[in-house]
Amino acid sequence: MPLVPMRILLDHAAENNYGVAAFNVNNMEQIQAIMAAAEKTNSPVIVQASRGAREYTNDAYLRHLMLAAAELHPRIPMAMHQDHGNSPATCFSAIEQGFTSVMMDGSLSEDGKSPSTYEYNVKTTKAVVDAAHAKGVTVEGELGCLGGIEDGHGAGLSSEEALCHLTDPDQAADFVAKTGVDALAVAIGTSHGAYKFTKKPTGDVLVMTVIEKIHKKLPNCHMVMHGSSSVPQELLEIIRQYGGDMKETYGVPVEEIQRGIKHGVRKINVDTDNRLAMTGAIRKVFATKPSEFDPRKYLTPARDAMQKVCEDRMVQFGQAGHADKIKIKTLREFVDFYAKGK
Ligand code: G3H
Ligand code: 13P
Ligand code: ZN
Repeated sequence: MPLVPMRILLDHAAENNYGVAAFNVNNMEQIQAIMAAAEKTNSPVIVQASRGAREYTNDAYLRHLMLAAAELHPRIPMAMHQDHGNSPATCFSAIEQGFTSVMMDGSLSEDGKSPSTYEYNVKTTKAVVDAAHAKGVTVEGELGCLGGIEDGHGAGLSSEEALCHLTDPDQAADFVAKTGVDALAVAIGTSHGAYKFTKKPTGDVLVMTVIEKIHKKLPNCHMVMHGSSSVPQELLEIIRQYGGDMKETYGVPVEEIQRGIKHGVRKINVDTDNRLAMTGAIRKVFATKPSEFDPRKYLTPARDAMQKVCEDRMVQFGQAGHADKIKIKTLREFVDFYAKGK
């Protein structure tokens, strides 16, 4: 099956009250793990690549990995998404490479670090929406800044200042109307990576009520949760057991994500859990079989461990069982769809 616009998957998820995990890909084993999990659970998939992933793989390798996945798994509707595009140029080059969805993260300046202004965010996101929709490509925008409230968004902010970077529901309504994005990433206190919360999060640091308020205002808006790895304690334990150094840390509980899905969350970004699973499996081989030096001997268990995480999330988010129920539309059909809406 050709790669499909991400909007199809989000619309189907909204109509059927489930969420779709978006897994990051950097190499062959990761895409194989995702596709094997999708086949096993009959799930549609969103595969995404960060700027770092595109640099690491070189676009050509990445593009061919995606095309191989689509060729080998004709039953699975699959969207290929640019994660955290830092500028229109990044999004446009992704579209040239065949991505069927892009994120213009205008909540940050082009350096990908410092918070931008609202005006900049609206302007750059709208420019990407106009160009992407003309090609049928889906666009995700972001409002508010990701990052932990506990650590001041990792940007030297106080917890109070960090709270100001959460998505404002009124501004969300204005942003969606002005830009025409297909999906909105919201800031609710999550952050990327393994170190999200110092204890199991409560509502003051993982502010799920932001999602509930936005859903009330914008019932048709597809929301995206970033930084949504659950950081399972058992995966941390495997890494520690085989010599790794993981401090005490907590992620986003799956039941909180399920609460978000009930209130309009349709895309859930998960990368760290897969990294933890692969690292634990590789460490185990290195520690228990020190004479092993064939990469296939440690990459196979790593791939299996990632597949298990992907299967778990596909079932937990409710996307399992839906792959063969989705009516596919082409990018061309989406060009017409967007043109009609204007
Ligand atoms: O955006 C966060 C994802 O985990 C991707 O991370 O930029 O290290 O590839 P990365
Ligand atoms: P995690 O680090 O929680 O897996 O988040 C990934 C993400 O948001 C990618 O955009
Ligand atoms: Zn993210």
